[in-house]
Amino acid sequence: MKITVAGAGYVGLVTSAGLAELGHQVTCIDIQREKIDLLQNNRLQIYEPGLRHLLAKNLQNGKLVFTVDPHLAYSNTEIIFIAVGTPEKSGGSVELKYIHEVAQQIAHFIENDVIICTKSTVPVGTNDLIKQIIENQKAPTLRAEVVANPEFLREGSAVHDFFHGDRIVIGTDNLEAASILKKVYQSLDIPVIITDIRSAEMIKYASNAFLATKISFINEIANICQKVGADIEEVAFGIGHDKRIGPDFLKAGIGYGGSCFPKDTKALLGIASGVEHHFDLLAAVINVNNFQQSLPVLMAKEAIGSLQGKKVALLGLAFKPETDDIRGSASLRIVNELLTEGAIVRAYDPAAIPNAQRVLGDTIEYAYDLRFALHEAELAIIATDWAQIKNAPLEVYPSFMKDPIIIDGRNCYSLKEIQKHSLTYLSIGRRCIFKDSLIDDKKILHFKEEGSYEDCHFH
Ligand code: UDX
Repeated sequence: MKITVAGAGYVGLVTSAGLAELGHQVTCIDIQREKIDLLQNNRLQIYEPGLRHLLAKNLQNGKLVFTVDPHLAYSNTEIIFIAVGTPEKSGGSVELKYIHEVAQQIAHFIENDVIICTKSTVPVGTNDLIKQIIENQKAPTLRAEVVANPEFLREGSAVHDFFHGDRIVIGTDNLEAASILKKVYQSLDIPVIITDIRSAEMIKYASNAFLATKISFINEIANICQKVGADIEEVAFGIGHDKRIGPDFLKAGIGYGGSCFPKDTKALLGIASGVEHHFDLLAAVINVNNFQQSLPVLMAKEAIGSLQGKKVALLGLAFKPETDDIRGSASLRIVNELLTEGAIVRAYDPAAIPNAQRVLGDTIEYAYDLRFALHEAELAIIATDWAQIKNAPLEVYPSFMKDPIIIDGRNCYSLKEIQKHSLTYLSIGRRCIFKDSLIDDKKILHFKEEGSYEDCHFH
């Protein structure tokens, strides 16, 4: 089929490359000429495993074309995927101007009947607006069907998710459009769910909100575990065995980040309040996450007192491993709080340093090597569970730090392993290990409900 993808961002590129790989003829359009020039020359500006290879292969065999020309993109195509950004506006609402602009352009340039599928995450009711814009502005003889087709791609494994996702959601009341869309994906062995447009839009928000809820829930349990002397890893393993709960998204840590969960949870809160529904549960999920992101600095102050002039190695800037994306990353909050406390920060990340430099500039130092970040640091904070960080031998800490104190925001190490080394180690929802202490297993960090830590004391 002839397909156009509007938007050469992260979702648009994965969708374009994936559809081309399925055998479709894909044209990907973006308004940023520089980006399109780079893509045409096989240069990808984002780090996403497998994507570079897939783009290069399909560019070379002619299945994928990049353009900035709307006439080329829309005048002779059967299906148009909208994958432009829907960023957060101040106050938490969703910026829809890129969606509106694309809808107007599509209406103006189409020359045959088309199906328009919205991949971008948009508030419930947006596809009806897109439909209206196109109906009002297109040539009256043409038919344009609008379908909601939300994406569920995880950064870092988006290419895998395109080919092996858990479900494909198609939101439309038009059976013909649904069956054409099913054909687009027919070579994938993924269940297809056909629903009405508004339910499809809501499925995306509800999925992300539910996953965020799971994370904040386990983080709250972790914080209680820390107080009562239980171990969150054991607890998560135990509850995850219940099939009704499931083992995924029960990893306690310093909270969720990224371009979706923080934005989509706030947007859903806004959608609810727009219909006068107080979504208190979701508001609590967001508050818990804000608290979790502040935990490392609270713990650091607890462990070493004032951070003024202290050298801190921050391990990880990306919001999760296998991505260079720092949007919503706990590291940004940690840097901000460390600098406010007067600390000197040197950050290591295998992929996200260029993006971090754009945001943080020279307020911190950057290390392209984990050992360089640790060199002479008084405190190490693990913020992202990159393999390069969690598989680093524990010996590096005492080798490069004076008197190592590690705050592990991602529970990368087993406590048994830690105990074989001379380290002070504080993690999330597990007991603290203090260097050279004979009564390690009785020391518990205590923090108050409102978010500040009480003194570390013995049971
Ligand atoms: C998410 C959704 O998973 C995806 O379906 C949607 O389309 C986009 O948003 P993504 O943001 O790429 O994908 O990352 P994800 O792997 O879901 O992780 C989000 C955040 O939650 C990360 O910061 C991660 O560290 C954190 N997380 C995840 C936890 O803290 N604990 C967990 O158990 C799982």
